[in-house]
Amino acid sequence: MTIEMRSAVDFYERHPISAEIILAKLDAGRGHLNGLAPSDLFAHDQDHYGGLAANDALAQRASIGQGSRVVDFCAGLGGPARYFAHRYGADVTGIELTPARVRGAEELTRRVGLQDRVRMIGGDVMRVPLPDASADAVISQEALLHVPDKARALAEAFRILKPGGRLAFTDWVAHRTLSAGDRELMWQGMAVTDLYSLATYADLIRDAGFSVFPAEDLTADWGEILRERLAMYRKLRADAQAAGAPAGHDAFYESYVRFVDLVNDAALGGGRFTAQKPA
Ligand SMILES: C[S@@+](CC[C@H](N)C(=O)[O-])C[C@H]1O[C@@H](n2cnc3c(N)ncnc32)[C@H](O)[C@@H]1O
Repeated sequence: MTIEMRSAVDFYERHPISAEIILAKLDAGRGHLNGLAPSDLFAHDQDHYGGLAANDALAQRASIGQGSRVVDFCAGLGGPARYFAHRYGADVTGIELTPARVRGAEELTRRVGLQDRVRMIGGDVMRVPLPDASADAVISQEALLHVPDKARALAEAFRILKPGGRLAFTDWVAHRTLSAGDRELMWQGMAVTDLYSLATYADLIRDAGFSVFPAEDLTADWGEILRERLAMYRKLRADAQAAGAPAGHDAFYESYVRFVDLVNDAALGGGRFTAQKPA
């Protein structure tokens, strides 16, 4: 495992949202965990900006429907994977590097009875253990920022897609070159590797062999969402401190505060990319 991958795993092993925390919250609210439905999780298990609407945007761009074979790169706790299975009837495979995330995703999926349509594979999106031309769609949300060789992940997406299959994903983009200090802060706090502009990213996708649709700039939408997330992290830290528990990962918090500033200054932002493997 490279230092970048190790760093992403360390980051997600300590992430403030985990399957245990989600289940504890639901237990506290409902008094028990019996009969959980996929929709009971949706307010908690989507680790990307824009929640379910962001999933719907990807589903539409990737033409996901009943029976589509979808691969979710960097699937996290499996929130989007379960949503695509539940809402669209897709058959979803998540590829996820962090072992605790894989276990958490499997636990949540079992709890809501979707284990026949959602499966998780512990692994790296730069080396996907799936056969060539086996997927109708590859999707990913806010995760390739951790992947050191994005060209290789894109080549893997291309390889596993059937001809005519779609790739649709969101990721961080850099509208301006960051200072060395900001790059270091993003790396130390959130395991962020190299970032690209919208245009450079689109070129990278094209270089992997795809036909590329116009990229969508999500930066303005993310500004508001990020301010809300920051408020949530502030509250989680305050709650933890009040309970005498460790307040969490300080480097993460510092870099997140700076990230929110950088997005509000439009130095960093988000992009949604859609591409197709030629038929
Ligand atoms: C921000 S979370 C996104 C989770 C999910 N896409 C969602 O929207 O809920 C990013 C995830 O990428 C995973 N990840 C990072 N590098 C990876 C790699 N090389 N291969 C597979 N997963 C990776 C992390 O472990 C983490 O769970």
